[in-house]
Amino acid sequence: MRTEEEKIEKQRESWDARQGVYGNSLRSVLFKNLPSSLNNRLHQKHVDFVLKSLPECQGSLLDVGCGYGRMSAEVQRHKPSMTFEGVEICAEFADKFRQDLGDCYHGSAVSYVPSAQFDVVLMVTILMYQTPETFSEFLHKYWQSVKVGGVLICVEPYRNMLVRYRQYNASEPQTEHYFERNQLKVLLSALPNSSVTCHQQFGLLPLVNQPVLHHGITVYKES
Ligand SMILES: C[S@@+](CC[C@H](N)C(=O)[O-])C[C@H]1O[C@@H](n2cnc3c(N)ncnc32)[C@H](O)[C@@H]1O
Repeated sequence: MRTEEEKIEKQRESWDARQGVYGNSLRSVLFKNLPSSLNNRLHQKHVDFVLKSLPECQGSLLDVGCGYGRMSAEVQRHKPSMTFEGVEICAEFADKFRQDLGDCYHGSAVSYVPSAQFDVVLMVTILMYQTPETFSEFLHKYWQSVKVGGVLICVEPYRNMLVRYRQYNASEPQTEHYFERNQLKVLLSALPNSSVTCHQQFGLLPLVNQPVLHHGITVYKES
């Protein structure tokens, strides 16, 4: 059984290595084996979902597990007065975020304690690297740093048929978590004073929206 520190160190090594191979690109933070056109399509779906989930104000955004700032950079294009902060375990990604967007804590999102409140807390494919036993604690911590009237936006992988098949045939237990259809909604709806404002699934094929790869959910913080 690995300790939490060993697990974090493994994650850091593996993300540093991935960044070393793919640089600051969609392949480094989306699917490394998908053709670029499909990663571009998925990226655009994430962008559309996040943009439509944002509150009216320009305000502030905390990007948890921000990578090189793929999503924050898109938000900045649409909301140029918004301020950005990141949390990221991979040093090169954190540097790129600082260069382009704003301050970035280099370290684990598990140990990071937000020192301010934000209009938007963004989590795009980061909860999947936590364990189910810690989801609630992780979400509650970051929920406390959402201002009243602000939102938490979460995008995570969907447990589709292909994933089920792979998991069934895997020789070792998988370290990433794939979320069942309503699992994210249940987790985020349990946050105090939250109400769901957007919920969407992202597939690759036009019209049929299949196979579903990711799903997104946004919760608004009521007073
Ligand atoms: C799949 S990528 C997504 C990056 C970014 N959110 C995006 O959508 O482009 C997951 C990111 O989370 C970071 N990460 C993984 N575990 C982390 C942890 N415990 N603390 C902070 N960052 C972590 C990785 O280094 C990587 O940049």
